[in-house]
Amino acid sequence: MSAFVVIGGQWGDEGKGRMVDLLAQDAAIIARYSAGDNAGHTIINHMGKFALHLVPAGIFYPEKLCLIGNGVVVNPAVLLAEIEQLESRGVGTKNLFVSDRAQVLMPYHPVLDVVEEEARGDAAIGTTKRGVGPAYVDKVARQGIRMGDLIDPDALRARLELVLPVKNRMLQGMYNAEPFDLEELLQQSLELGCKLKQYVRDTGAIVREAIGRGEKVLLEGAQGALLDLDAGTYPYVTSSAPPPQAGGAAIGIGIGPTQIERVIGVYKAYMTRVGEGPMPTELLDETGHILRGAGPAPEFGATTGRPRRCGWFDALASRYSVQVNGVTGAALTRLDVLDIFPAIQLCVAYEIDGERMESFPSTTAALERATPILEEAPGWRESTAGVRTFDDLPPNAQSYVKRIEELLTCPVDIVSVGPERDQVIIR
Ligand code: IMP
Repeated sequence: MSAFVVIGGQWGDEGKGRMVDLLAQDAAIIARYSAGDNAGHTIINHMGKFALHLVPAGIFYPEKLCLIGNGVVVNPAVLLAEIEQLESRGVGTKNLFVSDRAQVLMPYHPVLDVVEEEARGDAAIGTTKRGVGPAYVDKVARQGIRMGDLIDPDALRARLELVLPVKNRMLQGMYNAEPFDLEELLQQSLELGCKLKQYVRDTGAIVREAIGRGEKVLLEGAQGALLDLDAGTYPYVTSSAPPPQAGGAAIGIGIGPTQIERVIGVYKAYMTRVGEGPMPTELLDETGHILRGAGPAPEFGATTGRPRRCGWFDALASRYSVQVNGVTGAALTRLDVLDIFPAIQLCVAYEIDGERMESFPSTTAALERATPILEEAPGWRESTAGVRTFDDLPPNAQSYVKRIEELLTCPVDIVSVGPERDQVIIR
């Protein structure tokens, strides 16, 4: 057993990228297992500031293998642009490989994402419009195109001849949108395939062999547990199959669940969410506004630039994700953002229809009626950005972390106090 998983414990954007960048030191392979370029990981290290959408955050370690697993949907144009950008800034990509089983996000997927969102009207999900949902729909409907097809002209033609008429009927008939021309799309896709061919491999076999040799493999999650199709706030979730949950990591990379020995859950010291859907501790007042702008990296989506909805730490939602992911240790990020507050609130229960609830409700309707029951913690009002050991944190900050640990029911092993790689406290 030598794989460990890093997942987002909330609604995404918890700081998984910076944690993977840190934890990659202990792994020989860093592998993404789910989602597509809807994910946005911001990494700040000795090479500068980077926003990655598909390439695993381990890419900054030249000696390590970085894999994009079979569970990911890959927009080839986005992947190539990301590779080119990394190379142009001195980050080598010769150890990057993408699974031949990964689904290809085709140009009609973002178009469908946009028209489907428009058709939902007031019930829109607030997707990133990258086409990730429609690409997974095609995967499950067995209408997908895989990376292995993209690099094989005959296979690609056969798949497109089958699939494109269906997509065009949807686009034209249901949404009055422009159809795609088969020959043009085929040509475009083959060109992208040709450029990506050198990166395409059976990544599952690479991981299984590495595990067999006793090497450590970091399985990098995307999004967050509360955006999961099954466990999350359905229908305001992401359509990834395999899911962002730790349980999806084995499937999305091609190993068995018994090979995963640890699950590290990344939690922000408060909550954020982008897109629609319930968020009981959301602060729509001045405090929410302050929270959004307080840190060195203000709370705006790395993929869409949308302002993130901000609120106090929600212990019910976060503990639930510890439970459904089997989190063995937590990383608490952005503690420094709370430095300026004289008092900090923690949501320890909900009131729903006059009753106190201490577990996360299973229906979105109940969650929408939830009022947070808050517990106040005293602030510390001094900068934690330069602190590197737990004992050097202000006593109130230590108490806040310990309270979160209690509420999560799992140890907080790592605390981050800023976006730079070294702004971290390992306990
Ligand atoms: P989709 O994944 O683009 O279909 O969007 C579905 C929901 O997931 C929306 O609420 C998005 O804002 C959210 N979402 C998708 N990717 C991320 C992410 O990386 N961070 C945070 N939210 C995300």
